[in-house]
Amino acid sequence: MIKGQTKRIGIFGRSGCGKSTLAKQLIKDIDRLVVYDTLCEYEEQGCKVARSIVQLLKLARQRRFKIAYQPDIESVHEKELRKVAEALLLIQKPYQEGRAYPQITLMIEEMSLAIPNKTGGDVQIMQNLANMGRHYGINLIGIAQRPANVNATFRGSLTEQYFFSMVEPLDIDEVGKKIGRENAEMLRKLPNHQAFRYSDGCIENHFNTL
Ligand SMILES: Nc1ncnc2c1ncn2[C@@H]1O[C@H](COP(=O)(O)OP(=O)(O)OP(=O)(O)O)[C@@H](O)[C@H]1O
Ligand SMILES: [Mg+2]
Repeated sequence: MIKGQTKRIGIFGRSGCGKSTLAKQLIKDIDRLVVYDTLCEYEEQGCKVARSIVQLLKLARQRRFKIAYQPDIESVHEKELRKVAEALLLIQKPYQEGRAYPQITLMIEEMSLAIPNKTGGDVQIMQNLANMGRHYGINLIGIAQRPANVNATFRGSLTEQYFFSMVEPLDIDEVGKKIGRENAEMLRKLPNHQAFRYSDGCIENHFNTL
């Protein structure tokens, strides 16, 4: 990616519709990646597992890395993701200082746990990262079943969004604000593994490939 330009991608849709399948495609060619891996599904994607921030920082010393940060089952995800975000800001300090330094990508499964729809507290850092992460060369990919449960400021900063099938009226309302009510209503009947991709005011069809 070109210096100064970063991506913030959101992937939304009900369980089993194909979100993680798309996410795994998107991260294939990324060579500096940290996944906030709540369901422990990214080790088999070639990621090395970190269970603490110390381990994460150690693995991130390599030139290229794919790290699955797997929080404890009893973690408070907002707090845990905050620690990961702080680690990324530290890793990317040379980039922020204007030195020749590569970008990094943070992917978050599942955003309604780690970036819930409330303001202040631990969620603030992810709002800040969404708004200022490009100064640190931080790309973001976030996944959630229900957009209405994800922090609205964070969602508002996304540069690219994939909407798979969803049925909850609150979610249809929220998505309708972005892609138009009629298009959002069509999400109720969208088959699995298909999505609407929204970017720069344009909507196009997306089909997952395996
Ligand atoms: N294009 C496709 N054709 C056939 N099967 C697919 C396709 N895309 C995904 N699948 C399969 O559908 C299943 C569910 O996909 P996936 O795990 O990506 O869903 P998800 O949206 O992440 O679900 P969850 O919210 O429960 O995590 C997987 O077994 C996956 O292999
Ligand atoms: Mg999934």
